[in-house]
Amino acid sequence: MRHFFAAYLLLVPSLLAQLSASERCGKEIYMRGVGGSGKEIVALLDNGQTRVPATLTPCGSCHGADGRGKPEGGVVPPDITWDALTKPYGVYRTNGRSHAPYTESTFKRAFTMGTDPSGNKLDTVMPRFQLSYEDAACLVAFMKKLGHLADPGITDESIRIGVLLGPSDTLIRTTLAQYFDKFNRDGGVYGRTVELVFHDREGATRLAQWLNRASVFALIGNDLTGAESDVAPVLNDAETPSIWASAAEPDLRQPLKPYVFYVRVASRPAHTDADSLTAARILTAGLQRAGRSLTRQSFVEALESMYKVDFGGVEVTFGPNRRVGVSQR
Ligand code: HEC
Repeated sequence: MRHFFAAYLLLVPSLLAQLSASERCGKEIYMRGVGGSGKEIVALLDNGQTRVPATLTPCGSCHGADGRGKPEGGVVPPDITWDALTKPYGVYRTNGRSHAPYTESTFKRAFTMGTDPSGNKLDTVMPRFQLSYEDAACLVAFMKKLGHLADPGITDESIRIGVLLGPSDTLIRTTLAQYFDKFNRDGGVYGRTVELVFHDREGATRLAQWLNRASVFALIGNDLTGAESDVAPVLNDAETPSIWASAAEPDLRQPLKPYVFYVRVASRPAHTDADSLTAARILTAGLQRAGRSLTRQSFVEALESMYKVDFGGVEVTFGPNRRVGVSQR
């Protein structure tokens, strides 16, 4: 009985986080441009004059992992979360155009033929996609989930943050616990408190397994003791944002791993609580900037927007192509 109960408790969070098979397939199409049937999806650009694999221009690369659009270049991709597209009173776009609420079939027409429900032609920046009937259905299934999916570790009341430390980092552990305790007593961030999960720093394989189970929104840690090039890909694949107080050899290989941030490069690992506190302050400032509708993506973008921000005498700048916060002299 006891065993059954323990297993049940473990299952609940993972079941909630799970997508159905067709939603998962839709997510692959949306995020990576990879079709479920194994058939290539084609994206037509420039009024159909250029054909490229959709893997080069997946939906998420313009509309964002959360569907709310990433302003980039001239035309701003609109919010395409299902709620936004199907508002009963129709949609008024910032470009002055309006259209009737979307349905499943007009939505499919938008990404295959480039028209909205009122027959307006969409700007040609928005590619037209050629994909199988099954893949289109998967994409629709996923779109209905998008915008309702909370990233791991977030509830209305709390944000769970993992703290990865070495076995002898007890002082750092106490300092961080006190810092977040005060942060929570001061009201937390947009009504949420930060809940810490301490975990021993360990090798890449075991870290991957832990990340799978732990359901943390993001991580902070003091350093990766030279194992950056093994561990950073794991963090990045798990799409878990992480901030490291220092790195001896930050993994800055191209393409840059968007989820992994380092405060500074230092030949000696960070073993002072001051360094770890800086990482913690950057984390809370990022949470503030990302706002109430926090997602991992909005958090990463919030970190990227930091330009010469002072954290207790440490000046930090990140950017889309910059993952080390303190410039090296
Ligand atoms: C290269 C960037 C880009 C990619 C990739 C892209 N879109 Fe778009 N999308 C846009 C832009 C820009 C617009 C706005 C067009 C306009 O205003 O006429 C748009 C418009 C839309 C609209 C119409 C929204 C409305 O309010 O009428 C839908 C629906 C849409 N995209 C869905 C998708 C889907 C689904 C995919 C992937 C299969 C996708 N888009 C891929 C840039 C993109």
